[in-house]
Amino acid sequence: MKHLLSIKELSQSQLLDLLALAKKIKANPADYRRALDGKSVVMLFEKPSLRTRVSFDIGINKLGGHCLYLDQQNGALGKREPVSDFASNLSCWADAIVARTYLHSTIEELAEHGTVPVINALSDLYHPCQALADFLTLSEKFEDVSKVKLAYVGDGNNVAHSLMYGAAILGATMTVVCPEGHFPADEVVADVKQLAEQYGGQLILTSDIDTMDNQDAIYTDTWISMGDKTPMAEIEAKFMPYQVNSQLMAKVGAKYFMHCLPAYREVEATAEVIDGEGSLILDQAENRMHAQNAVLVTLLS
Ligand code: CP
Ligand code: NVA
Repeated sequence: MKHLLSIKELSQSQLLDLLALAKKIKANPADYRRALDGKSVVMLFEKPSLRTRVSFDIGINKLGGHCLYLDQQNGALGKREPVSDFASNLSCWADAIVARTYLHSTIEELAEHGTVPVINALSDLYHPCQALADFLTLSEKFEDVSKVKLAYVGDGNNVAHSLMYGAAILGATMTVVCPEGHFPADEVVADVKQLAEQYGGQLILTSDIDTMDNQDAIYTDTWISMGDKTPMAEIEAKFMPYQVNSQLMAKVGAKYFMHCLPAYREVEATAEVIDGEGSLILDQAENRMHAQNAVLVTLLS
């Protein structure tokens, strides 16, 4: 493993190893106090963040490393100088680059032109660190994560893409329910179906929410991702039937609710569900740090 650009590049054993290491780091943080001793990580963010920025910064600190954050103003990627120069210069000083960008191709360019590991902290196509934290969270609730029935309801976006890859590689069954016109990207669907077949998983894709049956967990995300200028009124009309609420949770027997956050209460999910007993949102948020630390330790030591 040289970079973490997407979950799709991971084999099943690499993915399982990352989850196992994350659990070890979470359980025994003192053993990893010096894991990144003398290492510096630069974080380039073109978009806002709470969880990703804080969990990387504090996580790197807990591993004994040093983290430098460059925001949108300082790090307007490709504007003041080409992304390739950004990558080659940062590689002179930093031991890894964590990047949150609009275009996934920007992250690929950083990896191509830099000489240090690049970690995708969210792009228009993927959010691999989120999916790792999510499967870590599920693996804390279910002994065999390949047996989990996970449903994703809402916009077929970056978060959905990474979850789909993760579920397929783990050999799990995942149902993705999206309104027409908001399905995951065709190439991701094709790729995930192939991986699911290879690993004994299953991908069910539908726009008919009424056909959704038995699920262990329902996951949703914002209906409008960062950078998407579609007016909310237009989206709401189409997406309201896909709101995750107590009736839906009860109908499919889902014990757990998941959301990467930030969440918009009474929009993609009701407050009752987001803040309810089965909500895993804070476990997911906490696990961002442990999952990312496992990635950093794997890539840098
Ligand atoms: N879930 C997530 O990535 O949150 P932030 O956008 O706050 O980093
Ligand atoms: N799909 C959302 C995730 C935010 C963490 C976005 O890209 O804005």
